[in-house]
Amino acid sequence: MRDFWSYWKERQKMVEEELDRFLPEEGPGPEILRKAMRYTLFAGGKRLRPILAIMGYEVAGGENVRQEILPQAAALELIHTFTLIHDDLPAMDDDDMRRGKPSNHKVFGEGIAVLAGDTLLVEAFRLFIQGLLPHDVKLRMLNELIDAIGVDGVMGGQALDLLYEGKGPSPEIVDYIHSRKTGGFIRASLTIGGMAAQNERLIPVYREIGDLIGLAFQITDDVLDVVGDEKVLGKPVKHDSERGKSTYPALYGVEESRKKARELVDRAIEIAHYQIGPELAWPIIELAKFIVERSY
Ligand code: IPE
Ligand code: IPE
Ligand code: MG
Ligand code: MG
Ligand code: MG
Repeated sequence: MRDFWSYWKERQKMVEEELDRFLPEEGPGPEILRKAMRYTLFAGGKRLRPILAIMGYEVAGGENVRQEILPQAAALELIHTFTLIHDDLPAMDDDDMRRGKPSNHKVFGEGIAVLAGDTLLVEAFRLFIQGLLPHDVKLRMLNELIDAIGVDGVMGGQALDLLYEGKGPSPEIVDYIHSRKTGGFIRASLTIGGMAAQNERLIPVYREIGDLIGLAFQITDDVLDVVGDEKVLGKPVKHDSERGKSTYPALYGVEESRKKARELVDRAIEIAHYQIGPELAWPIIELAKFIVERSY
């Protein structure tokens, strides 16, 4: 009865359609920019952050997905894709593959890749303010999002990720980097869903669950860089150790890191059971399991 993958695919399809509606092949602006933006956007991402937002909304009682969370959910994917395009640039991780295809700058050149990322970030805000939610609710969600991606969010995390390359990982730095560059964005995705549904009780619960699964997500990403299959992952492996990145496996080894990720997810599941109840929270629980079991 509860088929998580059909649940996932239905919502993933809605997100794909919303992104295509918002950024069609033809429209204003230089064709090359649009092409470059769409190239990485439609290269086959999991759409985890939008799905988390939709899930957060539905589990919290929201009933109008298309008008009350889909624009905001899809906007999260525009921002996420911007971070990926920039993350792969020679000045950052210098990775040649992303989502199973040559990285954006490999196809369009560095200049256009920088601009494609910038434009995805800016246009995300145009999409984020669409839909039928009251303005004050949208503003609150926007604030949550900006906190998650701003100077002490994804950008801050990415800055320290670069700064500490080759310096030897320390637990404090790794925790800062992971919670900012990835964890906070995942927490905000779920929380924004709760805000759209205007469910005050669940917002702090989502923050707690989001932090736990967000950290587990990045630990697993780091583990997959060591033990993953490049073809399945769609991006290069073993680069973190080559570049001396501050990662969990570099600090604790693969087994210990996996254990830590499982513990975080177990705690998140416990909170979901206790605070929301398995009847309502089952998609969040299944998603939390996927986060540590995934191979891509
Ligand atoms: C990869 O994110 C970057 C990290 C924050 C670890 P995802 O694993 O969600 O990548 P896509 O969107 O599915 O390509
Ligand atoms: C990415 O971390 C975090 C972002 C904000 C994009 P990584 O550098 O580990 O992500 P991948 O492994 O390249 O996807
Ligand atoms: Mg990186
Ligand atoms: Mg990278
Ligand atoms: Mg990685």
